[in-house]
Amino acid sequence: MKIAVLGGDGFCGWPTALHLSDQGHEIHIIDNLSRRWIDTELGVQSLTPMDSIQERCRIWKQESGRTLNFHLLDLANEYQRLRAWLEAHRPDAIIHFAEQRAAPYSMKSDRHKVYTVNNNVNATHNLLTAMVETGIDAHLVHLGTMGVYGYSSVGAPIPEGYLDIEIDTPTGKKEQEILYPTRPGSVYHMTKSLDQILFQFYAQNDGLRITDLHQGIVWGTHTEQTRRHEQLINRFDYDGDYGTVLNRFLIQAAIGYPLTVHGTGGQTRAFIHLQDSVRCIELALKDAPQSGDRVKIFNQMTETHRVRDLAELVAKMTGAEIAWLPNPRKEAAENDLVVENRQFLALGLNPTTLQEGLLDEVVEVARKYAHRIDRKRVPAVSAWTRDIAKRVETDPEGKRLKSAS
Ligand SMILES: NC(=O)c1ccc[n+]([C@@H]2O[C@H](COP(=O)([O-])OP(=O)(O)OC[C@H]3O[C@@H](n4cnc5c(N)ncnc54)[C@H](O)[C@@H]3O)[C@@H](O)[C@H]2O)c1
Repeated sequence: MKIAVLGGDGFCGWPTALHLSDQGHEIHIIDNLSRRWIDTELGVQSLTPMDSIQERCRIWKQESGRTLNFHLLDLANEYQRLRAWLEAHRPDAIIHFAEQRAAPYSMKSDRHKVYTVNNNVNATHNLLTAMVETGIDAHLVHLGTMGVYGYSSVGAPIPEGYLDIEIDTPTGKKEQEILYPTRPGSVYHMTKSLDQILFQFYAQNDGLRITDLHQGIVWGTHTEQTRRHEQLINRFDYDGDYGTVLNRFLIQAAIGYPLTVHGTGGQTRAFIHLQDSVRCIELALKDAPQSGDRVKIFNQMTETHRVRDLAELVAKMTGAEIAWLPNPRKEAAENDLVVENRQFLALGLNPTTLQEGLLDEVVEVARKYAHRIDRKRVPAVSAWTRDIAKRVETDPEGKRLKSAS
């Protein structure tokens, strides 16, 4: 297949591009490299040394003999170029990772909220309308998030996208199927909720074939392909805005930084290893909906864990200490989470669950590149409201007074 990987320079997009290229697909990476600019804005860098996208593609060609094509294009701001690209290349499938994906970054300031909404909603809508306009019959696979549902305990498993309900009408009860209600907990999650409505409209109005993958928090860093050469290494975010919880605990342990648990650590979240994430995308591509079908929604996760349990596991494994900090987010202190993921299991996914071997691998990577870590960038400082901002802890190591010089 000819596959466009939008956002293919990112943490999930790069290993997906390699995985699918390895299987013989013709891969076109489209990316505006905005994520690299955000690193510059935040004064932080990937824990792992990432080469330029062109250099990464060159090394992949050298190692595998396969070509990765790169196109510099901004989906949100260059509609005409996007449309012309689709017309010229007519991909069979499009995988859409190209959004601003950090909840804390989306809550930093009004400017970051505006950027996240403009970027994410325009990118998705530009893509959908360009697909209709060019008349291509590509299967669109989008990366959404489990976070759209919020994290209040409902007591029933979160289904894969749809909910059967009964409504009272003057002639009695009627059954209906609706999108499972969203309850986004940040501006970033809100954009993913809006994406869902855009998909519903274009599937129903124009017969676009769309799969929306509600992904859990991705952990790990390597996949089979990124291990093949030092310069194929994946991005790894450790900072308070982009670093995700389990990966952050692992790097904190590796550099002797306390594990930063927010609140009671009673938040339960869904997780998936990076290797399973790329495999799920492969499975979703093989199971495309037909034109006229409703949007196909998968819960792309393999297990759920409570944050304090993860911290305790990593502390036990590495001897790290835990710092209990005020929570910069506005969210339930404790929640349960039960999620259905039968569709991927039925398609043959064999989940990689939290094993010490894979956890150790991340700690090893973090130790190797520990010299690249700026400890000042480790705490999460973006607060969800002005009131919460007053209690955010920016110095979990308690070094402020000691380093007065
Ligand atoms: N990383 C996770 O744990 C996780 C969990 C659930 C869902 N997701 C979803 O998966 C997708 C990829 O996440 P990631 O961790 O790889 O993020 P990432 O920030 O590493 O990658 C996103 C890529 O998209 C590009 N991009 C952003 N806006 C663009 C635009 N307007 N035009 C062109 N390119 C643009 C960026 O430059 C970057 O390379 C996101 O949509 C995210 O919401 C990620």
